[in-house]
Amino acid sequence: MYIDSHCHIHFPDMVKRMPEVLANMKKSKVSHALCVAVSLADASRALALAEKHSFLYATVGVHPGRKDSPEPDVETLVSLAKHPKVVAIGETGLDYFHVKKDREWQHERFRVQIRAARACNKPLIIHAREAADDVIRIMQEEGAGTDKGGPGGVMHCFNETLPIAKAAMEMGFYISFSGVVTFPNAKELQKVACAIPLERMMIETDSPYLAPVPYRGKTNEPAYVALIGEFMAKLKGVPLARLAGETSKNFFTLFDIANESATGIPSGQP
Ligand code: NI
Repeated sequence: MYIDSHCHIHFPDMVKRMPEVLANMKKSKVSHALCVAVSLADASRALALAEKHSFLYATVGVHPGRKDSPEPDVETLVSLAKHPKVVAIGETGLDYFHVKKDREWQHERFRVQIRAARACNKPLIIHAREAADDVIRIMQEEGAGTDKGGPGGVMHCFNETLPIAKAAMEMGFYISFSGVVTFPNAKELQKVACAIPLERMMIETDSPYLAPVPYRGKTNEPAYVALIGEFMAKLKGVPLARLAGETSKNFFTLFDIANESATGIPSGQP
């Protein structure tokens, strides 16, 4: 049993294919998935999907690359996060790849979402692209980590160095790996993955983006998290069942989801 800790299957093109996407999940033993919002309008799509399917969950938040999105405020985020299927705030963070200058608004948007996560005590989904040092600094300044009484969270689609991973783990954050780790040129990232203990690790697709080998360049979907799990077990030299079990357990722990609450697959099944 695998869990996709980060996907966007509530995007309209994926929703059109939903019966197939969910059937493929089941076939690949992917029991749960988290539908991560990138704007407030998008959050209502994620939540609508999560309300329809017991094994799907949603987040509320505004992506740092969405310059055109209305700014969230703490009250709105906290009130949306009261819904029982909303398990996290995000994705939020910093993206210097998409925003080259005048980044103050991005910093402020990130700080607001950390404050909301602290206020409702729900974990953060962190996006960092070419901005890891500032992400860590702002997380520390705002008390995002469990070390400062914050909610903690997960560094999603991790593609940074080991020191950055360690700084995040010191704040109680989990490290989530996407299909990028399967790419032949991702040797440095593979070394980082080897050094992350299983008890801090999650796996995700970030679908529809970033399909793992052998589907690189195609549309990604939650079923493919099984391929990332298989790759990761081999890379780390651990039994597949252990990798799948630990990463799933971390998901339930971080997002405070009762394991038996809702699943597409009976829990006894391998
Ligand atoms: Ni994403």
